[in-house]
Amino acid sequence: MSKTAKRPYVVGNWKMHGLLSSLPAILDIDRAAACYIGVDVALALPFTLINPAAITVEHTAIGGQNCHAAHEGAFTGDISGRMLADCGAHFVLLGHSERRLGCGEDSATVRAKMQATLDDGLSAILCVGESTEQRAAGLAETSVQEQLLASLPDGLTSIGSITIAYEPIWAIGTGRIPQPAEIAAMHGALRQTLRDRLGPQAAAIRLLYGGSVNDDNAEALLAIPDVDGLLVGNASLDPRRFRAVVRAAQQASLQAS
Ligand code: 13P
Repeated sequence: MSKTAKRPYVVGNWKMHGLLSSLPAILDIDRAAACYIGVDVALALPFTLINPAAITVEHTAIGGQNCHAAHEGAFTGDISGRMLADCGAHFVLLGHSERRLGCGEDSATVRAKMQATLDDGLSAILCVGESTEQRAAGLAETSVQEQLLASLPDGLTSIGSITIAYEPIWAIGTGRIPQPAEIAAMHGALRQTLRDRLGPQAAAIRLLYGGSVNDDNAEALLAIPDVDGLLVGNASLDPRRFRAVVRAAQQASLQAS
């Protein structure tokens, strides 16, 4: 299946930003989602904003940025997928490099969280990406493929609930992005890995690119083969810039149809 067959998916990751006073900005983004109906728009929000946003928006999927691998238990300070679903979340971002590196999450932990997330009826956006050193050593594709395989639960059946986001660690928040050919090669490698593991149905899984995406580069990124959408950090905090990214995705889908 070519990228043309999939609806573009644009996801804002607000990271540890946003207060209740940010709800008007979320509503602004929701209006863009209502306007650009060819695009699936989502926001991964801090826990504190998930319920207020979920009961406010109409066209935007609201999700979390992490969850625990257990459904409940003696895990002080943690939140389960079941709790996220209970307060209106539709998906969870898992395996972000800021959690892998900053919170010591390895791929086995991410895999357990993915399993729990899918069991709880949520979708998962699984993030993978290489370090500067891995790319410099020519190991970008193999290390990301290994990370993907190690993070996917066994016996996966809910293919429709999975999205993969390729986010090179060195591109996050730096203003540096890979060359289009490097992104195309990585997405092709990830697609092949998914096909080997899951069979032909892997073609339907959307592959997002993330890392210094903004309103200036979104159009070019969306034109790269096998880029089915974008995971946007900093630029998603500004509704005007995020709206422009969503508009670029709408144009990309119109051109493709
Ligand atoms: P930036 O868009 O700020 O580089 O962040 C990317 C990211 O980490 C999204 O998950």
